[in-house]
Amino acid sequence: MAEKVRVAVLISGRGSNMQALAEYRREVDTAYELVLVASNVPEARGLVLARRFGIKTWAHSHKGLDRAEFDRLLDEELRRHDVELIALAGYMRLLSPGFIRPWIGRILNIHPSLLPEYKGLDTHRRVLLAGEEYTGCSVHIVTEELDDGPVLARSEVKIRGRDTPETLAERVLEEEHKLYPRALDAFCRTLKSGYEPFTGPGA
Ligand code: GAR
Repeated sequence: MAEKVRVAVLISGRGSNMQALAEYRREVDTAYELVLVASNVPEARGLVLARRFGIKTWAHSHKGLDRAEFDRLLDEELRRHDVELIALAGYMRLLSPGFIRPWIGRILNIHPSLLPEYKGLDTHRRVLLAGEEYTGCSVHIVTEELDDGPVLARSEVKIRGRDTPETLAERVLEEEHKLYPRALDAFCRTLKSGYEPFTGPGA
């Protein structure tokens, strides 16, 4: 394994978590380096941000391709860059099982809820409707099940009486930006120290 773990970040939009990973990398001697930012949305704003950080980018629209076909192109690109770990950061597309299997234990995701609660989309509205006192964000290892897989780190956010899905999203996002770089860095340190990645339930 190289001195630093070679990480690709997958995005579909704004890319603020990718930016947080890149900024942390500038400030701290992290165990990761960002070697590629890839997207299924060629016009994703995060791609512009990534280039400003001097990170290579790749974008290919998924439109007109079936999931497995698109994932094959993505996989080829990741391997071309000798990527060792994938960090999903607002990547709003399900990965096919055929893509995930060879990467199992080496794909992380950040999700805007306290997993295992509130998997899936529209988390903030659902959390408010349920009258929860706390929500937050989680970093977890990706498996073939949506937002499942071992949770590596979580950060709580207290819900206020006047919160709307938008105000909550904003405060949770602030926590995401603090949590993801630290969780990714810690995970990369364990990888470099010879940790055998999780290989799936019952493995
Ligand atoms: C973040 O809140 C992230 O947790 C969420 O999308 C947003 C992306 O923002 N991801 C998911 O909901 C995945 N299920 P960003 O593009 O600014 O990082």
